[in-house]
Amino acid sequence: MQTILSPKPSFDFDNFTFGVQATDRMLVAHYGQSAWQDYKIVPFGEITLSPLAMCFHYGQTVFEGMKAYRMVDGGINLFRMGKHHERLNRSLRRMAMPEVPASLFIEGLTELIRQEEKWIIDNPDYSLYIRPFVIATEPRLGVDAAEEYLFMIVLSPLKSYYSKNLRVKVETEYIRAAHGGAGSAKNGGNYGASMLPQRLAKKAGFDQILWLDAAERKYVEESGTMNIMFILDGKTLITPPTGDTILDGITRDSLLRLAPLQGLEVEEIRVSVSELIDWIDAGVRVEAFGVGTAAVISPFEEISYLGKSYPTYTGKDACMYGLKQELSDIRRGISEDKFEWNFRV
Ligand SMILES: Cc1ncc(COP(=O)(O)O)c(C=O)c1O
Repeated sequence: MQTILSPKPSFDFDNFTFGVQATDRMLVAHYGQSAWQDYKIVPFGEITLSPLAMCFHYGQTVFEGMKAYRMVDGGINLFRMGKHHERLNRSLRRMAMPEVPASLFIEGLTELIRQEEKWIIDNPDYSLYIRPFVIATEPRLGVDAAEEYLFMIVLSPLKSYYSKNLRVKVETEYIRAAHGGAGSAKNGGNYGASMLPQRLAKKAGFDQILWLDAAERKYVEESGTMNIMFILDGKTLITPPTGDTILDGITRDSLLRLAPLQGLEVEEIRVSVSELIDWIDAGVRVEAFGVGTAAVISPFEEISYLGKSYPTYTGKDACMYGLKQELSDIRRGISEDKFEWNFRV
């Protein structure tokens, strides 16, 4: 059992903006001459790169997003660490970047979390967000995979709020990912390309975008940086299958495994936007929500398509809340970790 340390005294855990405050330390490892060097844990601070560093020009950047939780017995849980490591390496392969070996990722992250333990306070509303990333650092202007890279892990405290219900717009002009592209990689470019459509949707009064497939503009794929799920009449959970246009979300995977235990049937099938509208028009109780590490579950209250608005169900008895609670209970060690998702530090 771990001792619970008091929070960093100079940090106001009640009042902060996510992602602005890093913890005291970070992990750094260099890659060059075809090998990763040993990692170092150093005080958080700025890094120096040549303006010729290839990450600035050709987009060889990959990141992950995961969380560490304080468990009810005082221990620390790196939730689904192995799956995040696997996905990091999948993204790296797609971007012709060197994979990060388990010895570096797991040992390095574990050590960093041990040193930064005091940032994971004993409160179910808090977690520590973990941002591992790899960037091409070789100073060379040439469109070619770099020979030098930097792997880093930075940490930032996160407070989960009761997420507000979202008004979501089906995006009919821009697309996020096409077959053969890099949509299933957590590569920076995918996110850069989503900023303009996201901004336009916000300007039009929406909170989030619902992306359609690139080929037919017919099937719903993801929402912002979340996978999407629907629950019909409290019985069937439906989500589009992952592939090279949909990120293999770890929250998605976890919820798909928990849903049958809560009496839901699960179907991984493509859902067309017209089908979705038909369900709503026919009076089916449609729960629609985005799922991802940051907010876990973000309920949609409305889906707008070509200027018309369709309400989705967010009543107190919606099944999505039960799924969210169970996932949280597993992470905190309240419910049994049947699938061995918890990695104790
Ligand atoms: C495009 C995209 N889809 C889905 C997700 C959800 O994935 P996860 O549940 O692993 O956070 C994310 C967040 O990482 C994302 O960036």
